[in-house]
Amino acid sequence: MPITPATPERHAIGLAMKRKEDPRFIQGRGRYLDDIVLPNMLFLALVHSPYPHARIVKIDKTDALAMPGVKAVITGEDLVAANLGWIPTFHGYDKQMVLAVGKAVFQYQEVAGVVATSREAAFDAAELVEVEYEPLEVIVDPFVAMKDATIIRDDRENKTNHIYHWEVGKRDETNAALAASDVHISGKMEFQRVHPAPLETCGIVADMNGGSGRLTLYLTSQAPHAHRTVVSLVTGIPEDKIHVISPDIGGGFGNKVPVYPGYVVATAASVILGSPVKWVENRTENLTTSGFARDYHMNVEIGATTAGKVTALKVTTVADHGAFDAAADPTKYPAGMFGIVTGSYDFPIAFTELDAYFTNKAPGGIAYRCSFRVTEASYAIERGMDMLAQRLGMDPAELRLKNFVKKEQFPYPSPLGFVYDSGDYHRTLEKALGKIGYGDLRREQAEKRKRGEYMGIGISTFTEVVGAGPSKLFDIMGIKMFDSAEIRIHPTGSGIVRTGTRHQGQGHETTWAQIVAEELGLDPQNILVEEGDTDTAPYGLGTYASRSTPVAGGAIALAARKIREKAKKIAAHVLEVSEDDIEWEDYKFKVSGVPGKSITMKEIAFAAYTNPAPDSEPGLEATFYYDPPNLTFPHGAYIAVVDVDAETGETKVRRFLAIDDCGVVINPMIVEGQIHGGLTEGFAIAFMQEIRFDASGNHLNTNFTEYLVPTSLETPAWETDNTVTPSPHHPLGAKGVGESPNVGSPAAFVNAVVDALSPLGITHIDMPLTRAKVWHAIQAAKA
Ligand code: CDP
Repeated sequence: MPITPATPERHAIGLAMKRKEDPRFIQGRGRYLDDIVLPNMLFLALVHSPYPHARIVKIDKTDALAMPGVKAVITGEDLVAANLGWIPTFHGYDKQMVLAVGKAVFQYQEVAGVVATSREAAFDAAELVEVEYEPLEVIVDPFVAMKDATIIRDDRENKTNHIYHWEVGKRDETNAALAASDVHISGKMEFQRVHPAPLETCGIVADMNGGSGRLTLYLTSQAPHAHRTVVSLVTGIPEDKIHVISPDIGGGFGNKVPVYPGYVVATAASVILGSPVKWVENRTENLTTSGFARDYHMNVEIGATTAGKVTALKVTTVADHGAFDAAADPTKYPAGMFGIVTGSYDFPIAFTELDAYFTNKAPGGIAYRCSFRVTEASYAIERGMDMLAQRLGMDPAELRLKNFVKKEQFPYPSPLGFVYDSGDYHRTLEKALGKIGYGDLRREQAEKRKRGEYMGIGISTFTEVVGAGPSKLFDIMGIKMFDSAEIRIHPTGSGIVRTGTRHQGQGHETTWAQIVAEELGLDPQNILVEEGDTDTAPYGLGTYASRSTPVAGGAIALAARKIREKAKKIAAHVLEVSEDDIEWEDYKFKVSGVPGKSITMKEIAFAAYTNPAPDSEPGLEATFYYDPPNLTFPHGAYIAVVDVDAETGETKVRRFLAIDDCGVVINPMIVEGQIHGGLTEGFAIAFMQEIRFDASGNHLNTNFTEYLVPTSLETPAWETDNTVTPSPHHPLGAKGVGESPNVGSPAAFVNAVVDALSPLGITHIDMPLTRAKVWHAIQAAKA
């Protein structure tokens, strides 16, 4: 199937919106896990370890089992006996205990499960499960873990807390280039442990039907097909006997990609008891046990000439993975796509290395609105460039413009191995500088500095890497990362499109319908989009890491083009001309050189079932499995203007402008919504959020009074705009966008605060930039 190359003219998919005359065309319907209520349904509650590291001496189920309504109490040993004690993690470096056996390795780890006739009874009985613990030495700091004085995972053959070492680039040449550089900056920075905290927590209804022998799992899953395959591999139940249905999901952000113990215990309980079993996390369980994100301790070194031309980049990272290595990274990329750390800049040479360690914390390292560690990488380089600008006494915008990869350099092979597809970084930053009035802001800042006022301007010009991925490089647990689409057009010209992705509020119901409408000239209002049901959807790897548009979006366009090919035959047959005389123009088939002789796709759909072409099958449908030739590389220029009160440490984001470039835009309103949401998360990460532990391993953010989620009162008013650099290899020219604002914005906020405080000699403050932290930094600088 030839791919129609994207052209600069095809900038926005316009048909759907032009046709409807309503630029705000949005589809959607809702059926959430809460709506799944089955006859004889039982409820699961989990028992959690209060200790971050402790031997489990004894578990006594007696009192819990005696509670009215309790049907079963399940322990780790019960699961081990059923061969369900451990589950594989994503990339095969580790496996994860379902329920603690022998010892608990992080606070709130799941130790037992209680199944009862009501949620309340299950929770009450869970309190009656008596577990005797013997506390052990606790390690919450990866720099302590690396000394191996206490081994956290003594179940493993290798008696060390070190999980893996990963590196890419040229070590010796980079070191030599750094040593030879006129200027050499080195900055330590942390990307703190955060949690996506989706409004709907994770949950499952597992329903083993004894009659049919089929296991139905209603699961808050971002990747239903992958989850079905994992369940089959772990339980031995053939995939045809497993039906995963992912209902509408109230936010995922990577949190709903892993397999969690609650899913396994609920499934095991349903198989044992023969009744449906429901488990829904409460907020504390979500914040304490399900996948965290980030927790990277990075050191960034940049070499440059005195004129500000970069010469080398080296980034060294210590990663805290918690007690199991459950990081959601593709198999061949243990540190995800951290190799994008050279960002938008033309470094002649670069090297990055990373060492990951176990600690007594919950496992994770999920791709929280992030293409597998691209957020950490963007933060490192965008902070690093500002540190360099500060050292050189150079304007950070000027430094960036001087070092950007130029548009004529694309496709651009980066020194760390990626080939960037397209971009125009100069145009995007120049648009941002013009739109925000950068010159005026710098003049205002200079005036304010004279008056002793602290105002900062922070820039982040990130490059993203999304669309995992080309199957030759990307797999999760061996399953190749392509995606798929199946389109059926009904006789009256309406249709259905199904994909292997599963949105969690990103609006695929709208944008997928638009792609079909655009490619086939049909009404998007009558294209039903269905995702998340493994019985009906073609196989695909799901929705996370902004992969849906780059991968499934391509599959939809190409499936639609297959339909168009077939429709052309039908058009020729109905219009009684040769196929060579038929052309697709203005969303219909026309006979070349015969004005007025044409046929619409709606008419062809009817003919496909009533008057099919003699040399083709009846019906009008197609399936396409799309294996993208490359990743897509969206980019953006973000500018934050922040006022800092040096007396109190209070920060106020006065303005924030985001110019994004995600190639061809399918739906501008959805893209804008994605940017607003991601910026709000980036703002929360920069200023308020951190999952913290005390030295004894106590989790300090177990609910929303301790882990803050911004409301409309704190959230700044976002200003957004875009540039369009189509992806040359994507069938629509589109790149992903969902994660860009979360990836790009933290550095802009921190750069602005540091810029405000730079007259005090401050060069860096680690996130979150709480009032107390900023105040302490100011006091230390003044002292
Ligand atoms: O994988 P995920 O859906 O989270 O991310 P995405 O591919 O970046 O898409 C997020 C939403 O923005 C979807 O509804 C996309 O179709 C839409 N989008 C768009 O309209 N135009 C683009 N160039 C990229 C995404």
